Amino acid sequence: MQHLITPNDFSNNEILDLFKDARLFGDLQTNSILEGKLIVTLFFENSTRTRSSFEIAAKRLGADVVNLEVQTSSTKKGETVEDTVANLNAMKPDAIIIRHSDCGLPASLVEYVDCPIINAGDGKNAHPTQALLDLFTIYEHFDGKTKGKKIAIVGDISSSRVATSNLELLPRFGLKPILVSPKKYKVSSIYKTTSKLKKIVNKLDIIMSLRVQHERHESNVLPEELEKEKQKYAKKYCITKKLIKDKDILILHPGPVNRNIDISDEILEDKRSKVLQQVANGVCVRMAILKKLILQKK
Ligand code: NCD
Repeated sequence: MQHLITPNDFSNNEILDLFKDARLFGDLQTNSILEGKLIVTLFFENSTRTRSSFEIAAKRLGADVVNLEVQTSSTKKGETVEDTVANLNAMKPDAIIIRHSDCGLPASLVEYVDCPIINAGDGKNAHPTQALLDLFTIYEHFDGKTKGKKIAIVGDISSSRVATSNLELLPRFGLKPILVSPKKYKVSSIYKTTSKLKKIVNKLDIIMSLRVQHERHESNVLPEELEKEKQKYAKKYCITKKLIKDKDILILHPGPVNRNIDISDEILEDKRSKVLQQVANGVCVRMAILKKLILQKK
């Protein structure tokens, strides 16, 4: 049985097949491919897009969805996540989708289940469905000609599972990443890293802007200090018209966007920004993933 824990769980050919299905599902119309199937979602961390995207994808395929409310579940009574998942598994769902702050948790749950586990984000570790929808958005934009395209991933690289999974996936399709961040969010990498976005912007085909994950940084910073820090960050890393001028460039962001800190209002309205296209693509890519994993031969 196949699970989706990191983008490396799918080969390039499997991903290209997935994209064919995603294209067919692109109009986001309802069908009955997964009629009678039951999907459980378990989100231990906040989510707007990913959770609703999975739920809509499942429902568009005719599946039923049970969203376990973790705030009121038995993990609050001391049950381990492993036991919660084993108990849910005993009720014979067809897939379990999980988001949790512990890196590696979804991978460790595989031995407790008889159905596919889909990782919807584990700490800083991985977010495979986001990387797949990002790649799909890039792939469609460049008509499949992704080889050699330069992509700057800009922001809080050190805390971002979106960055981790994209760095695992995009180079497999010939994309050339450059990691752009202030020193405090820098990671050591086999890819070029820099803190100077302005200096490299002219070389780029794509910018993927990321939010600074303040909730992952331990801090007793006062609100005024935090605001000052955000403004300082925005001066160097916010994607603005002044920065990209009339350049032909694709602007991406996984959301949630901090307006005028990550990307300016003006650029969010600009047709080079495909942030909402990413959200739409998220549904059809997740439809393709659910179809693949649930209908696979056991
Ligand atoms: C991201 C996440 O949760 O990892 N959002 C998402 O899934 N679209 C990024 C973030 O929280 O900044």
